[in-house]
Amino acid sequence: MTFEPVLLANIDKHDSHTLRVYEAGGGYSALKKMLTQSPGDVIELVKSSNLRGRGGAGFPCGLKWSFLPKDHPGPIYMCINADESEPATFNNRILMEQDPHQLLEGSIIACYATGASTAYLYIRYEYPRATKRLQAAIDECYERGYLGKNIKGSDFSLDIYLHRGAAAYICGEETGLIESLEGKRAWPRIKPPFPAVEGVFRKPTVVNNIETLCCITHIADRGAEWFKSMGVPADPDNPRDAGSYGPKLYCLSGHVNRPGCYEMPLGITCGELIEEYGGGVWKNHKLKAAVPGGISMGLLTADEMDCPLDFSGPGRYGCLGLGTAAVTVMDETVSMVDFLHNTSRFFAHESCGQCTPCREGTQWAYSMLKRIKAGKGRLKDLDLLLEIGDTIGIMPGTTICGLADGAAWPLKNAIRKFRDEFEEYIRRTNPDGYDVTEPVAALPVVELH
Ligand SMILES: Cc1cc2nc3c(=O)[nH]c(=O)nc-3n(C[C@H](O)[C@H](O)[C@H](O)COP(=O)(O)O)c2cc1C
Ligand code: SF4
Repeated sequence: MTFEPVLLANIDKHDSHTLRVYEAGGGYSALKKMLTQSPGDVIELVKSSNLRGRGGAGFPCGLKWSFLPKDHPGPIYMCINADESEPATFNNRILMEQDPHQLLEGSIIACYATGASTAYLYIRYEYPRATKRLQAAIDECYERGYLGKNIKGSDFSLDIYLHRGAAAYICGEETGLIESLEGKRAWPRIKPPFPAVEGVFRKPTVVNNIETLCCITHIADRGAEWFKSMGVPADPDNPRDAGSYGPKLYCLSGHVNRPGCYEMPLGITCGELIEEYGGGVWKNHKLKAAVPGGISMGLLTADEMDCPLDFSGPGRYGCLGLGTAAVTVMDETVSMVDFLHNTSRFFAHESCGQCTPCREGTQWAYSMLKRIKAGKGRLKDLDLLLEIGDTIGIMPGTTICGLADGAAWPLKNAIRKFRDEFEEYIRRTNPDGYDVTEPVAALPVVELH
């Protein structure tokens, strides 16, 4: 497929992160154009583009903006979510390090449309290079009048503050982020109220992802029809499907010949990404499985490579969704017991502990997988693990945030799609105890670091 990158168009230019290079390529002309329109018109433009959030949930962006209270007398805030902690996801980092002004332009337009006069760019602590480049880019914007009072002679004023995160996965969940920004532990809030009604400092707040805001720059520049000319249209038989439009950054990692970040219209299949862009599985090995969008999304088997990587594709293959569109390839040498042991360890470590099903469920899953891996597993453990997977999360309605759903899907997918391998491992490593049904002692408290 021939496709000219848009989001990554600048990244290979020398000094691509500077205002000089960005402006030379036409940068900030979209902002100037938007400032001549009313904020309401900009929201309508974004709504009509059908842009869906790139941070994981795929919520329609313009619709989210329109939830802000009308004629709100007090401040409205924007939170720019640069926490990017989903394993194997690095597209936001590339955008921030290599083209920070593309992000800032989209963010300023988003603030103009929503009426936000202050934006907080919450960046994960482990991104020092992106932090440095963003701060330099913000400083350049103040000097050139793209930030501060009366931007480019308009009556719109905006300040953007860079805020380094607290180095935890849960800081990326939008209300965990807000709590952390307020100086507290990043414990997600019960919703409703959603941030659009009550967010930072209990004021109306919009939270958007980095790639979402970069898309805003191009929608403002090229229009909604251009954006909708790419991707997968909405399913006419499904009134809840909002379609999957526009370009998307796919991160590709693991056992693949050419790992990297690839820009494509939404809807490319997982197989195409791995074979055509990633150059196939490394060392001439066979493919065993692939994570479709960060480990929270679950697993695709080698027979499921025709799965389209759009907002509804992975769901049709039993996965949670598209997530961050970060694909991790596993070749035939990977043990699913190892995969699940590692995955469960991550979620047990990252659960914030507020909700009992998530706090206890992720710990028990990890503890059981540790025991299985150590050759003390029982066949019964597989059903217990599935029971945990089926009962923790927002979807079954037992937790405050989606971290628990993210912990559940790898459990459910790995055991349901690779059950024979788990059973064979348990029989082989625990021949005398695999069919024990009475309780067994838990392993000692586990070291998670
Ligand atoms: C556990 C968890 C971690 C998350 N981490 C991130 C993250 O690092 N970056 C991000 O943009 N969204 C993350 N999200 C999604 C945010 O809560 C939110 O939906 C998103 O920032 C909204 O932006 P968007 O509409 O532009 O996608 C996370 C969600 C959960 C449940
Ligand atoms: S689901 Fe897990 S991470 Fe989310 S609030 Fe509850 S305990 Fe915390």
